[in-house]
Amino acid sequence: PRLLLLNGPNLNLLGTREPAVYGSATLADVEELVRRTAEEAGLELRAVQSNSEGALVDAVQAAREDCAGLVVNAGAYTHTSVALRDALSGVALPFVEVHISNVHAREEFRHHSYLAPIASAVIVGAGIQGYAFAVQRLATLLAPADG
Ligand code: DQA
Repeated sequence: PRLLLLNGPNLNLLGTREPAVYGSATLADVEELVRRTAEEAGLELRAVQSNSEGALVDAVQAAREDCAGLVVNAGAYTHTSVALRDALSGVALPFVEVHISNVHAREEFRHHSYLAPIASAVIVGAGIQGYAFAVQRLATLLAPADG
């Protein structure tokens, strides 16, 4: 099985963008961590980052063809995008929402997520390690039930 790692706007700037909030790891570091964690769980990975909402919607729709679940950090679109939520509802694949920072300790406008009500799980404030937790959770959800 394959996972889609989806990173939204400005996450291409990881490592240089507000390091006090998001840390020093780069997007490449995140993708490597997620790929390694997925491999350890017997899962393949496709990684997509885009700054544009439509491209993220397209990537979610494409996942229906060949992915079993998603790890999603939609960045600011988390707080604004009905379109991304509808895409995730439409493909009906399990996904874990990740935020590097603790959005609940930040501005009020970051407290609401359009995606959280339909997510399998939400991991916030665990730094980039949250992405690894998300993969591990999806591996559990996707594992064939024993017995
Ligand atoms: C973020 C939190 C969002 O509020 C913000 O817009 C981001 C990053 C995070 O990973 O902490 O771009 O999703």
